[in-house]
Amino acid sequence: MSQQHERVEKNIGLMAVLIAVVISIGGLVQIVPLIFSAQTTTPAPGVTHYEPLALAGRDVYTREGCYNCHSQMVRPFRAETERYGHYSVAGEFVYDRPFQWGSKRTGPDLARVGGRYSDDWHRLHLNNPRNVVPESNMPGYPWLADTLVDGQTVARHLRTLKTLGVPYTDEQIAGASAALAGKTEQDAVIAYLQGLGTALAGRK
Ligand code: HEC
Repeated sequence: MSQQHERVEKNIGLMAVLIAVVISIGGLVQIVPLIFSAQTTTPAPGVTHYEPLALAGRDVYTREGCYNCHSQMVRPFRAETERYGHYSVAGEFVYDRPFQWGSKRTGPDLARVGGRYSDDWHRLHLNNPRNVVPESNMPGYPWLADTLVDGQTVARHLRTLKTLGVPYTDEQIAGASAALAGKTEQDAVIAYLQGLGTALAGRK
């Protein structure tokens, strides 16, 4: 054994630093190319940024922790594509900050739930899932129907996303409060859910 190697093996502090250096290099090699890869930064055909109501719904979705029971990623396996549709591709998530892939499926994957049910079904389901699925163990979210969306918060969110390069127009940002007046958080979540995965829905 070389002398240098022996020195590293006998000095736990030095060893820890060197391990951290090696792991960091490994991490950078994997992560940095993804930031520049067109596959992960260019939207898949038909994928557009969230319209303001859906964006508000997305915020409710994360606030309520829906991702604790629902993933949003169809994996490329037969059992998944037969059930949910086309597997997820990187270009579907370019406007997702943060992404909602999740890893826990107490309930079904929601990546392609858009258009699967009517808005009325979602209303009944969100108020109390047992209304439409008697054996469901999903909690009800009845207060979403009584809580109005805060248009000013949405406007600020749009402005922030614009600085990150999402193509919201100034008119959209200025008009967000008026456009969302009277909309409930339930309307917003449903707008969000109905748009999920629809761009690739028809593909096999
Ligand atoms: C404790 C776990 C849990 C949480 C939290 C949860 N769900 Fe569910 N969800 C389920 C289960 C289980 C089902 C399947 C039974 C049913 O349809 O109710 C389901 C079904 C669904 C469905 C129907 C999916 C399909 O393809 O049939 C939608 C839509 C949905 N949930 C949306 C939401 C939203 C939005 C939230 C957050 C506001 C949420 N869920 C929170 C467990 C959960």
